[in-house]
Amino acid sequence: MQLRRATMDDALDVLTWRNDETTRKNSFTQEEISEENHLKWFKRKLDDNNCLMYILEDETGSLGSIRLDITDKIAEISYMIAPAARGKGLGKEIIKLIDNVPELETAVTDNRIQSLVGFVNEDNVASARCFEENGYTKLIAGDIRCYIKNLWSE
Ligand SMILES: CC(C)(COP(=O)(O)OP(=O)(O)OC[C@H]1O[C@@H](n2cnc3c(N)ncnc32)[C@H](O)[C@@H]1OP(=O)(O)O)[C@@H](O)C(=O)NCCC(=O)NCCS
Repeated sequence: MQLRRATMDDALDVLTWRNDETTRKNSFTQEEISEENHLKWFKRKLDDNNCLMYILEDETGSLGSIRLDITDKIAEISYMIAPAARGKGLGKEIIKLIDNVPELETAVTDNRIQSLVGFVNEDNVASARCFEENGYTKLIAGDIRCYIKNLWSE
């Protein structure tokens, strides 16, 4: 099980996972996304220096995706597991593996990232567990749970 950088070849898998009913329910923008809009967005993200996007895979193929969007030294996590692969511990695994990608380690050393943050809807119990199991601290704002982990050392 490993993370690798995403490429345009992953765009349609990511669209399928994003348009799945459960993912849409848990997302802050819930409408179905067209292939045309998704492909433009995906290319923009791959070209964006403030975005790091990875695919979780094993010998059977791609199992999920995780993205870090960097703003003001905070990297916001967005992630999904392929619908058929959910409930087998992979959500916890993908949050664990992101800590060790070399680009994140470099960004922390260069002081481009100080914290990892995930925003979770209050009814998304599985995602909350993934962050809690990986040592994130929970902050509550209305019906949003914010999970945060500081990466810098003084
Ligand atoms: C959220 C998501 C990434 C979790 O991945 P997963 O592989 O299904 O989760 P895991 O198998 O690692 O399970 C994590 C924990 O959630 C629990 N869990 C899993 N599915 C659950 C469900 N449907 N309801 C309640 N708890 C659930 C597991 O029992 C486990 O808890 P434990 O640590 O107490 O045993 C996945 O369900 C997903 O892709 N959902 C749609 C996209 C999404 O919500 N992304 C996150 C946005 S913040």
